[in-house]
Amino acid sequence: MIIGYYQYHPEFGATGRNLEKVEDTLVGVDADIIVLPELAFTGYFFQDREELRELAEDVSESPIVQSLSRLCKNNAFYMVAGFAERFKERLYNSAIVIGPSGLLYRYRKLHLFHTEKEYFDPGDTPLGTIEIRGARVGVMICFDWAFPEVARSLALQGADLLCHPSNLVLTYCQKTMRTRSLENSVYSVTANRTGKDARPRGELLFTGQSQIVGPKGEVVASSDSDEEAVVLRAVDLSGARNKAITENNDLFADRRPEFYDAIVKTS
Ligand code: ACM
Repeated sequence: MIIGYYQYHPEFGATGRNLEKVEDTLVGVDADIIVLPELAFTGYFFQDREELRELAEDVSESPIVQSLSRLCKNNAFYMVAGFAERFKERLYNSAIVIGPSGLLYRYRKLHLFHTEKEYFDPGDTPLGTIEIRGARVGVMICFDWAFPEVARSLALQGADLLCHPSNLVLTYCQKTMRTRSLENSVYSVTANRTGKDARPRGELLFTGQSQIVGPKGEVVASSDSDEEAVVLRAVDLSGARNKAITENNDLFADRRPEFYDAIVKTS
Protein backbone atom coordinates (compact mmCIF):
# COMPACT_ATOMS: atom_id res chain seq x y z
CA MET A 1 0.00 0.00 0.00
CA ILE A 2 1.30 3.48 -0.85
CA ILE A 3 0.79 5.93 2.01
CA GLY A 4 2.07 9.42 2.71
CA TYR A 5 1.37 13.08 3.12
CA TYR A 6 1.30 16.47 1.48
CA GLN A 7 3.11 19.03 3.62
CA TYR A 8 2.37 22.60 2.56
CA HIS A 9 1.48 26.11 3.69
CA PRO A 10 -2.26 26.86 3.66
CA GLU A 11 -2.84 30.58 3.32
CA PHE A 12 -5.14 31.84 6.11
CA GLY A 13 -8.71 32.39 4.92
CA ALA A 14 -7.97 31.57 1.27
CA THR A 15 -10.07 28.41 1.20
CA GLY A 16 -10.54 28.37 -2.59
CA ARG A 17 -6.86 28.98 -3.36
CA ASN A 18 -5.76 26.33 -0.85
CA LEU A 19 -8.16 23.83 -2.38
CA GLU A 20 -6.86 24.61 -5.89
CA LYS A 21 -3.29 24.15 -4.70
CA VAL A 22 -4.13 20.72 -3.25
CA GLU A 23 -5.96 19.70 -6.44
CA ASP A 24 -3.15 20.91 -8.72
CA THR A 25 -0.49 19.18 -6.65
CA LEU A 26 -2.21 15.84 -6.17
CA VAL A 27 -3.66 15.29 -9.64
CA GLY A 28 -1.98 12.25 -11.19
CA VAL A 29 -0.35 11.11 -7.94
CA ASP A 30 -0.19 7.33 -7.53
CA ALA A 31 -1.11 6.56 -3.92
CA ASP A 32 -3.59 4.71 -1.74
CA ILE A 33 -3.85 7.11 1.22
CA ILE A 34 -2.66 10.74 1.33
CA VAL A 35 -2.86 12.70 4.58
CA LEU A 36 -3.14 16.52 4.60
CA PRO A 37 -2.55 18.84 7.58
CA GLU A 38 -5.07 19.89 10.22
CA LEU A 39 -7.43 22.70 9.03
CA ALA A 40 -5.96 22.12 5.59
CA PHE A 41 -8.04 24.71 3.72
CA THR A 42 -8.88 27.54 6.14
CA GLY A 43 -5.61 28.05 7.99
CA TYR A 44 -5.33 27.74 11.77
CA PHE A 45 -5.16 30.91 13.88
CA PHE A 46 -8.73 32.24 14.02
CA GLN A 47 -9.46 35.54 15.77
CA ASP A 48 -12.73 34.38 17.24
CA ARG A 49 -15.73 32.12 16.76
CA GLU A 50 -17.34 34.50 14.26
CA GLU A 51 -14.36 34.36 11.93
CA LEU A 52 -14.30 30.56 12.21
CA ARG A 53 -18.05 30.34 11.50
CA GLU A 54 -17.55 32.31 8.27
CA LEU A 55 -14.92 29.87 7.01
CA ALA A 56 -16.27 26.55 8.34
CA GLU A 57 -18.44 24.30 6.13
CA ASP A 58 -21.16 21.72 6.73
CA VAL A 59 -19.93 18.44 5.24
CA SER A 60 -23.34 17.78 3.66
CA GLU A 61 -23.07 20.86 1.43
CA SER A 62 -19.33 21.52 1.39
CA PRO A 63 -17.61 22.55 -1.88
CA ILE A 64 -14.37 21.20 -0.36
CA VAL A 65 -15.88 17.75 0.22
CA GLN A 66 -17.32 17.76 -3.31
CA SER A 67 -14.01 18.76 -4.91
CA LEU A 68 -11.96 16.28 -2.90
CA SER A 69 -14.44 13.51 -3.76
CA ARG A 70 -13.87 14.25 -7.47
CA LEU A 71 -10.11 14.34 -6.94
CA CYS A 72 -10.19 10.95 -5.17
CA LYS A 73 -12.43 9.43 -7.83
CA ASN A 74 -10.35 10.70 -10.75
CA ASN A 75 -7.09 9.54 -9.18
CA ALA A 76 -8.27 6.40 -7.36
CA PHE A 77 -6.86 7.38 -3.96
CA TYR A 78 -8.14 8.15 -0.46
CA MET A 79 -7.46 11.32 1.50
CA VAL A 80 -7.51 12.25 5.18
CA ALA A 81 -7.71 16.02 5.64
CA GLY A 82 -8.17 18.49 8.46
CA PHE A 83 -11.44 20.40 8.01
CA ALA A 84 -13.17 23.29 9.80
CA GLU A 85 -16.64 21.81 10.31
CA ARG A 86 -19.90 23.67 10.93
CA PHE A 87 -22.76 21.52 12.16
CA LYS A 88 -25.90 23.48 13.11
CA GLU A 89 -24.66 25.94 15.75
CA ARG A 90 -21.53 23.93 16.52
CA LEU A 91 -18.03 24.33 15.13
CA TYR A 92 -15.53 21.47 15.17
CA ASN A 93 -11.87 20.98 14.37
CA SER A 94 -12.47 17.84 12.30
CA ALA A 95 -10.74 15.43 9.96
CA ILE A 96 -12.55 13.93 7.01
CA VAL A 97 -11.76 10.73 5.15
CA ILE A 98 -12.72 10.83 1.48
CA GLY A 99 -12.39 8.17 -1.20
CA PRO A 100 -13.52 7.54 -4.77
CA SER A 101 -17.11 7.15 -3.56
CA GLY A 102 -17.10 10.36 -1.48
CA LEU A 103 -17.07 11.10 2.25
CA LEU A 104 -16.48 7.95 4.32
CA TYR A 105 -15.76 9.12 7.82
CA ARG A 106 -15.41 12.19 10.06
CA TYR A 107 -13.59 12.60 13.33
CA ARG A 108 -13.94 15.67 15.58
CA LYS A 109 -10.82 16.55 17.57
CA LEU A 110 -11.17 15.48 21.20
CA HIS A 111 -8.28 17.42 22.71
CA LEU A 112 -8.36 21.10 21.75
CA PHE A 113 -5.08 23.01 21.97
CA HIS A 114 -4.65 26.42 23.61
CA THR A 115 -6.82 29.13 21.91
CA GLU A 116 -8.76 26.50 19.95
CA LYS A 117 -10.81 26.16 23.14
CA GLU A 118 -12.13 29.72 22.60
CA TYR A 119 -13.73 29.05 19.23
CA PHE A 120 -14.11 25.30 18.62
CA ASP A 121 -16.53 22.98 20.36
CA PRO A 122 -14.83 19.90 21.82
CA GLY A 123 -15.14 16.77 19.68
CA ASP A 124 -18.06 14.44 20.33
CA THR A 125 -17.37 11.60 17.89
CA PRO A 126 -16.11 8.29 19.29
CA LEU A 127 -12.62 7.07 18.42
CA GLY A 128 -13.16 4.56 15.63
CA THR A 129 -11.49 2.96 12.65
CA ILE A 130 -12.43 2.43 9.02
CA GLU A 131 -11.25 -0.03 6.39
CA ILE A 132 -9.45 1.21 3.31
CA ARG A 133 -8.26 -1.35 0.74
CA GLY A 134 -7.87 -4.06 3.38
CA ALA A 135 -6.10 -1.80 5.90
CA ARG A 136 -7.69 -0.62 9.14
CA VAL A 137 -7.20 3.12 9.56
CA GLY A 138 -7.59 5.31 12.64
CA VAL A 139 -7.70 9.11 12.66
CA MET A 140 -6.40 11.48 15.32
CA ILE A 141 -5.72 15.23 15.10
CA CYS A 142 -2.62 17.12 16.18
CA PHE A 143 -2.70 17.65 20.00
CA ASP A 144 -4.33 14.23 20.42
CA TRP A 145 -0.66 13.08 20.30
CA ALA A 146 -0.25 14.21 23.92
CA PHE A 147 -2.89 11.74 25.12
CA PRO A 148 -1.54 8.20 24.66
CA GLU A 149 -5.05 6.85 25.24
CA VAL A 150 -6.05 8.03 21.75
CA ALA A 151 -3.46 6.04 19.79
CA ARG A 152 -3.91 3.06 22.13
CA SER A 153 -7.68 3.10 21.75
CA LEU A 154 -7.38 3.19 17.94
CA ALA A 155 -4.77 0.41 17.98
CA LEU A 156 -6.95 -1.76 20.24
CA GLN A 157 -9.71 -1.35 17.65
CA GLY A 158 -7.38 -2.86 15.10
CA ALA A 159 -5.81 0.21 13.46
CA ASP A 160 -2.83 -0.69 11.29
CA LEU A 161 -2.26 2.96 10.42
CA LEU A 162 -2.84 6.19 12.36
CA CYS A 163 -3.52 9.17 10.10
CA HIS A 164 -2.61 12.35 11.98
CA PRO A 165 -3.39 15.72 10.37
CA SER A 166 -1.49 18.37 12.35
CA ASN A 167 -0.70 22.06 12.74
CA LEU A 168 2.18 21.75 15.20
CA VAL A 169 3.76 24.71 16.94
CA LEU A 170 5.54 22.84 19.77
CA THR A 171 8.58 20.67 19.09
CA TYR A 172 7.77 17.42 20.90
CA CYS A 173 5.20 15.73 18.75
CA GLN A 174 7.28 14.22 15.98
CA LYS A 175 9.44 12.33 18.52
CA THR A 176 6.39 11.34 20.54
CA MET A 177 4.63 9.87 17.51
CA ARG A 178 7.59 7.49 17.05
CA THR A 179 6.78 6.22 20.53
CA ARG A 180 3.05 6.06 19.79
CA SER A 181 3.84 3.88 16.78
CA LEU A 182 6.29 1.72 18.72
CA GLU A 183 4.17 1.18 21.85
CA ASN A 184 1.18 0.17 19.69
CA SER A 185 3.09 -1.46 16.81
CA VAL A 186 1.30 0.63 14.19
CA TYR A 187 2.26 2.79 11.25
CA SER A 188 1.57 6.50 11.57
CA VAL A 189 1.52 9.42 9.16
CA THR A 190 1.82 12.85 10.76
CA ALA A 191 1.03 15.50 8.13
CA ASN A 192 2.08 18.87 9.48
CA ARG A 193 1.91 22.25 7.77
CA THR A 194 4.63 24.81 7.14
CA GLY A 195 4.76 28.61 7.25
CA LYS A 196 3.20 31.20 9.52
CA ASP A 197 -0.27 32.42 10.35
CA ALA A 198 0.38 36.14 10.98
CA ARG A 199 -2.91 37.37 12.42
CA PRO A 200 -4.18 40.28 14.53
CA ARG A 201 -3.72 38.21 17.71
CA GLY A 202 -0.09 37.32 16.90
CA GLU A 203 2.01 35.07 14.79
CA LEU A 204 2.25 31.29 14.86
CA LEU A 205 5.08 29.42 13.13
CA PHE A 206 4.39 25.80 12.20
CA THR A 207 7.15 23.22 12.39
CA GLY A 208 6.72 20.99 9.32
CA GLN A 209 8.84 17.83 9.75
CA SER A 210 5.95 15.63 8.69
CA GLN A 211 6.78 11.96 8.90
CA ILE A 212 5.82 8.38 8.12
CA VAL A 213 6.70 6.06 11.02
CA GLY A 214 6.75 2.27 11.10
CA PRO A 215 5.62 -0.14 13.81
CA LYS A 216 9.06 -0.32 15.44
CA GLY A 217 9.13 3.46 15.77
CA GLU A 218 11.39 3.76 12.74
CA VAL A 219 11.11 6.89 10.58
CA VAL A 220 10.30 5.62 7.10
CA ALA A 221 10.29 9.13 5.58
CA SER A 222 10.28 12.71 6.83
CA SER A 223 10.46 16.30 5.59
CA ASP A 224 12.29 19.47 6.61
CA SER A 225 10.57 22.15 8.64
CA ASP A 226 9.82 24.48 5.72
CA GLU A 227 9.63 22.45 2.49
CA GLU A 228 6.40 21.87 0.60
CA ALA A 229 6.36 18.25 -0.54
CA VAL A 230 4.27 15.22 -1.36
CA VAL A 231 6.03 12.29 0.30
CA LEU A 232 4.85 8.72 -0.32
CA ARG A 233 6.19 5.30 0.60
CA ALA A 234 5.13 1.75 -0.26
CA VAL A 235 4.68 -0.10 3.03
CA ASP A 236 3.35 -3.47 4.12
CA LEU A 237 0.74 -2.52 6.70
CA SER A 238 0.36 -6.16 7.78
CA GLY A 239 3.59 -5.54 9.73
CA ALA A 240 1.41 -3.65 12.21
CA ARG A 241 -0.50 -6.81 13.07
CA ASN A 242 2.44 -8.41 14.87
CA LYS A 243 2.33 -7.12 18.44
CA ALA A 244 5.17 -9.33 19.72
CA ILE A 245 8.08 -7.62 21.48
CA THR A 246 9.89 -10.85 22.47
CA GLU A 247 8.91 -14.52 22.16
CA ASN A 248 7.24 -14.08 25.53
CA ASN A 249 5.80 -10.60 25.22
CA ASP A 250 2.90 -9.22 23.27
CA LEU A 251 1.94 -5.55 23.47
CA PHE A 252 -1.74 -6.32 23.67
CA ALA A 253 -1.97 -9.76 25.29
CA ASP A 254 0.31 -8.63 28.15
CA ARG A 255 -1.83 -5.66 29.09
CA ARG A 256 -3.32 -5.62 32.63
CA PRO A 257 -6.38 -3.39 32.22
CA GLU A 258 -7.78 -4.53 35.56
CA PHE A 259 -5.06 -2.32 37.09
CA TYR A 260 -5.67 0.69 34.85
CA ASP A 261 -8.86 2.06 36.47
CA ALA A 262 -7.31 5.51 37.05
CA ILE A 263 -7.04 6.01 33.28
CA VAL A 264 -10.71 5.60 32.49
CA LYS A 265 -12.28 7.20 35.59
CA THR A 266 -14.28 10.23 34.42
CA SER A 267 -13.99 12.26 37.64
C1 ACM B 1 -2.48 21.58 17.71
O1 ACM B 1 -3.21 20.76 18.24
N1 ACM B 1 -2.81 22.17 16.59
C2 ACM B 1 -1.18 21.94 18.33
